[in-house]
Amino acid sequence: MGHEWTNLSYANVATTSAVAHKASRNWEDSLARGGAAEFDADAEKLGMMPLRVAAAKLLSCHISDVFCGSSATAMMSSIAWAVMPSKSQNIVSSRAAFPSTVYPWSRVALETGAEVRLAPYNENHYTDPRDILGLIDNNTSVVVISHVEYANGQRYNLREFSKVAHSVGAILVVDATQSMGMVPIDAVASGADVIISSGYKWLRGTYGTAVGYLSPEAKKLVPGIVGFRSNEDIWDMRSDRMNLPEDASRFEFTTLHFGALRGLAASIEEMLEIGIERIWEHDLSLSDMVVELASSRGLEVTSPKDDDQRSAIVSIRPPSEHHSAEIVRRLQDEFGILVTDRSGMIRVSPHIDNDHSQIEFLFTSLDKILAN
Ligand SMILES: Cc1ncc(COP(=O)(O)O)c(C=O)c1O
Repeated sequence: MGHEWTNLSYANVATTSAVAHKASRNWEDSLARGGAAEFDADAEKLGMMPLRVAAAKLLSCHISDVFCGSSATAMMSSIAWAVMPSKSQNIVSSRAAFPSTVYPWSRVALETGAEVRLAPYNENHYTDPRDILGLIDNNTSVVVISHVEYANGQRYNLREFSKVAHSVGAILVVDATQSMGMVPIDAVASGADVIISSGYKWLRGTYGTAVGYLSPEAKKLVPGIVGFRSNEDIWDMRSDRMNLPEDASRFEFTTLHFGALRGLAASIEEMLEIGIERIWEHDLSLSDMVVELASSRGLEVTSPKDDDQRSAIVSIRPPSEHHSAEIVRRLQDEFGILVTDRSGMIRVSPHIDNDHSQIEFLFTSLDKILAN
């Protein structure tokens, strides 16, 4: 039985874009018909290209700067093992960061004895950027941040972070899973060394695909995870040597769900046609409305509101007699509205598929729930 959902939770899981769904399904259908007859060695060799081309346009960088993977976490792990900060070095991040942004580094630190330094956050899950920057010193090997924090939508200035990181010889690694597809990103101008993003949130792809960017410096790294695709000619298979490609594809190591990649490429191309600046404006205007309607009801918005630090993720503190988990569940069960319960807040994260009437619907539904 079908259900009409109002998905206002792109920070969780997108309603897959129709073009991504179709491309992914078509690829699966072709495999189910004829295996390698319909997806041959050449197709497999070039399997990453549509996504690399689309992502390069979205990030204003070159195709050779882009690599594809199955998840943001797997990419981050390969980067962390590649960098492998030593015992005398430290890794700087924030306590508010999504665990997958930090865990790969904690795992490496467990091995090498490197120090992991995490900046604190306040009762609104806000991290003062100066608290992160203040942890950076001459022994910092890597600064790793989530461009937009998942719980409250706080956005960091990448340029500011890359400048400070580089001033001590550290690299800046950015998890853009909560920003790419929502916030315009100029990868080269940001100064970031690594940018990675999962595909199933703001980029509106399916599960099973992710995309990354490497600066010239980061392209010198030897990936922590390798496989047959790590050799520059993937079909020249000899296990007695491994010649890594010079470009970012050196971080691609094996087969992926190529349909998911094609789908993500199609979704990104669709977004490029709309224009990322226009999407950002649209998303912000929806989040403005969330802030306005919450405030007019006396509900506290805990996300940053100033233009330099906000995003389309808006978190609302429920009235003290209510629990966020209960409200979120009832919004879904009784009204078909998807928002997320994060850190005791109601997290709303609208995107291009949403319009202002759906934000209105969220609040009239919330009124009914809060009334009884
Ligand atoms: C900032 C951030 N990074 C990474 C992830 C997980 O990405 P993946 O499932 O591709 O490993 C999430 C998921 O919520 C996230 O919010």
